[in-house]
Amino acid sequence: MTERPGRDEKPLYEAIIDAQKLAFAPFSFHAALALRELGILEALADCRPDGLTAERIAELTRVPVYGVKVLLESGVVSDLVALEGDHFRIRQLGMLVLRDPMTRVNMDFTADVCYRGVAHLRETVMTGKPAGLSELGPWNTIYEGLTQLQPKAQQSWLAFDHYYSDPMFPAALPKVFTDKPKRLLDVGANTGKFAIACLNHDPQVNVTLLDFPGQLEIARQAIVAEGHSARATYHPIDFLDASIEFPPGQDAIWMSQFLDCFGEDEIVSILERARRALSPQGRIYIVETYWDNQQHAAARYVLAMTSLYFACLANGNSKMYSSAAMRTCVQRAGLEIERELERFSASHTMFVCR
Ligand SMILES: C[S@@+](CC[C@H](N)C(=O)[O-])C[C@H]1O[C@@H](n2cnc3c(N)ncnc32)[C@H](O)[C@@H]1O
Repeated sequence: MTERPGRDEKPLYEAIIDAQKLAFAPFSFHAALALRELGILEALADCRPDGLTAERIAELTRVPVYGVKVLLESGVVSDLVALEGDHFRIRQLGMLVLRDPMTRVNMDFTADVCYRGVAHLRETVMTGKPAGLSELGPWNTIYEGLTQLQPKAQQSWLAFDHYYSDPMFPAALPKVFTDKPKRLLDVGANTGKFAIACLNHDPQVNVTLLDFPGQLEIARQAIVAEGHSARATYHPIDFLDASIEFPPGQDAIWMSQFLDCFGEDEIVSILERARRALSPQGRIYIVETYWDNQQHAAARYVLAMTSLYFACLANGNSKMYSSAAMRTCVQRAGLEIERELERFSASHTMFVCR
């Protein structure tokens, strides 16, 4: 180990620590999750700034003192907690694991949906098949099985999906409704959240939802509960069957966090069908989070890791794309990008196409 670090390198001593963090990443991940789930971080958060002894934490949480000690000592080297004398005190990272919504959603998704499957990554990248999906169920893609996932996995999948979509809807709605579309197609409508937002936003719009039948049934129930049945139509589909056209005459076609579920040739086929379903004045609205178009290193990290989920668990051939890769697919499908609204909502970019 005699090489000098390059200009963009950390000192070797820090890189050695990073290497051990990688080597033991599954341990520190599960220790952090256990500290959160067993109420240890909560007990420490409640006793700021003084902190607590391991014995007192054991009493408060009813976790055996041995367990409290091994978890907290790993938490010290992971920077979740500090040890001063015999008192453990929660640190900033511990507070993020406990209270930050993005960290919670990502940890639950990793634990409940991805953890076992991602161990099949080598097979996945060699075969282009989602080799880890067999850990969750017997489907070809995770989307076929979404409504049959174990309750905890389903809840964490939906929480992850909604966390990265729902907050963007209020910024997107006025842009989609600028031209007052009468017929809107929600492609990959999932549990119907955007469809409901549209139906609430404009009392004149009619929405058609496309997805697998199980997802559409969940969406239908939510739409009925909102009292919007009369303006919603459901169209079950498998997008991988390129021979199935979309319902025609659409003024607006919405695809949010959807095309990243497909390989590039599949994206082109979906966009071609969307183009054929447009009315003469219609527009296609593509919303994605592109990894090359993020302001924050944390966002880029999340997106790169999410691509591994797509590989190992979702379908083996999709990923989070760069904006250039998506532009190429749009052009291959014979569409023109009329406007690009870069990061119109935090990390999301909208392509308005015709
Ligand atoms: C990542 S979710 C996006 C949902 C929503 N548009 C949003 O913004 O949160 C992708 C949706 O596409 C659907 N989907 C993926 N592949 C599909 C396929 N081959 N056929 C039908 N639906 C599919 C999934 O069931 C899921 O509801």
